[in-house]
Amino acid sequence: MTTFLLPREPISTLDAYLATEHGGRGLEEARRLGPQATIDVITRSGLRGRGGGGFPTGRKWSSLASQTGTRRYVVCNASEGEPGTFKDRALLRSNPYQVVEGLLIAAFAIGASEIYIGIKGSFQPEIAAVTRAIQEFQTAELCRDCTVNIVSGPDEYLFGEEKAMLEVIEGKPPLPRLLPPYEHGLFSTSPQEGWEAGPRSPGERTDEPNPTLVNNVETLANVPHIIARGVEWFRSMGTRESPGTVITTIVGDVVAPDVGEVEMGTPLGAVIDAVGSGPLPGRQIKAVFSGVANPVVTAAQLDAPVSYEGMSAIGTGIGSAGFIVYDDTACMVHVAYRLSRFLYIESCGQCPPCKLGSGEITSLLEKIEAGSGTDGDLGAIHGWLRRVTDGSRCYLATEEQQLVSSILRAFPAEFAEHIETHACPRPETRPIPKLLDLADGHAHYDQTYWRKRPDWTYEEAAE
Ligand SMILES: Cc1cc2nc3c(=O)[nH]c(=O)nc-3n(C[C@H](O)[C@H](O)[C@H](O)COP(=O)(O)O)c2cc1C
Ligand code: SF4
Repeated sequence: MTTFLLPREPISTLDAYLATEHGGRGLEEARRLGPQATIDVITRSGLRGRGGGGFPTGRKWSSLASQTGTRRYVVCNASEGEPGTFKDRALLRSNPYQVVEGLLIAAFAIGASEIYIGIKGSFQPEIAAVTRAIQEFQTAELCRDCTVNIVSGPDEYLFGEEKAMLEVIEGKPPLPRLLPPYEHGLFSTSPQEGWEAGPRSPGERTDEPNPTLVNNVETLANVPHIIARGVEWFRSMGTRESPGTVITTIVGDVVAPDVGEVEMGTPLGAVIDAVGSGPLPGRQIKAVFSGVANPVVTAAQLDAPVSYEGMSAIGTGIGSAGFIVYDDTACMVHVAYRLSRFLYIESCGQCPPCKLGSGEITSLLEKIEAGSGTDGDLGAIHGWLRRVTDGSRCYLATEEQQLVSSILRAFPAEFAEHIETHACPRPETRPIPKLLDLADGHAHYDQTYWRKRPDWTYEEAAE
């Protein structure tokens, strides 16, 4: 297996990192090349964002560098809230130095003098690892012209949405603002377009958009390797459209859930076998989801390559490559209900069709699963699916639309069976795989999640 991001043994000191063949060389090389040439290398490498959207990283850096504005910022998205995903935490635990080096290169390339790392307050081992790495870079004077701040944020899924992350860094709740970070960046004094629109104080400046670059942990971890080893080396792995490797998480109905680094373009079934040790004995894979952000992959599609173009060819997306596997004992109506409920709970409610629609869809799915649903309920779900994205200011509503529609399309017989027999033929429940830890083949899910209410408070635990 090709690995360069996940070392065999964790790297826990800067000295150990600098003693590796390429540790620290990327930053050195970037300073030698200069900002524009550094951006050019990242562009030519074909690196694409690993946070879920797959946006070309060089193009993002280039557009940030060409934005006007008095100040620029770099934000590392380390909030990892996608169900079934643990790769950023695995990276921060095993080598936080490459992420810090990637951040320093990004700041140098776009001309930012301040960096923020947005990370969940509950990720204590990762906060400790990245804090130590930053302090060591500072002591070694490798972090000369840049301040690095760690902002610990809430457990909500939306904290990872980039427009919400900027709100959190500014001390507010994780409610996505309207404009993207490159237009309305951190501490911007341009007219407020966020959820907290209001009059400004007299004399306050209103002309500083502060364009802000937001990149995922894994995206940034790739950067020093690419700058140090070159475009040819990076492009020698993966496919033409998806060069490099990807860190995947495999959880659900598999023998040993785990995180692993694979070359882009490896077939999904082979990734499930290599990283998660395959399905349980005697079981067949029925469905796979890339987190909760993309349409379902069915058993017939397991040969599809894990790459941007490979997943897109079968009508889905690679997302953050956290794959949730369900075998032939799973009820797909139940799965649809659980995943839809997650999105309903996490929706912030700024756009009424998103919160109301995902809530209605979730209740109707629960009703069908319980055996009391009708064809009319199925029709109502389709109706809400058409409207749930109306006026949405972030992608969460689209996730609900794509995910639920794809399950309805792929497994119509299971819905019909519940409606006709007034019962669930496979009444085995599955938890929402919101990962707290993943080690030694065991996935630890958040057992309190079931008590989370749509207003983000928690029901009292039963005695
Ligand atoms: C609801 C929602 C949750 C998200 N959660 C994360 C997350 O936990 N981590 C992450 O890096 N990106 C997350 N994203 C994507 C970010 O908005 C953003 O696209 C990404 O951080 C950009 O980095 P990249 O270009 O390096 O991929 C989320 C997006 C949405 C809509
Ligand atoms: S689309 Fe949904 S989650 Fe996103 S801002 Fe609107 S209400 Fe909130």
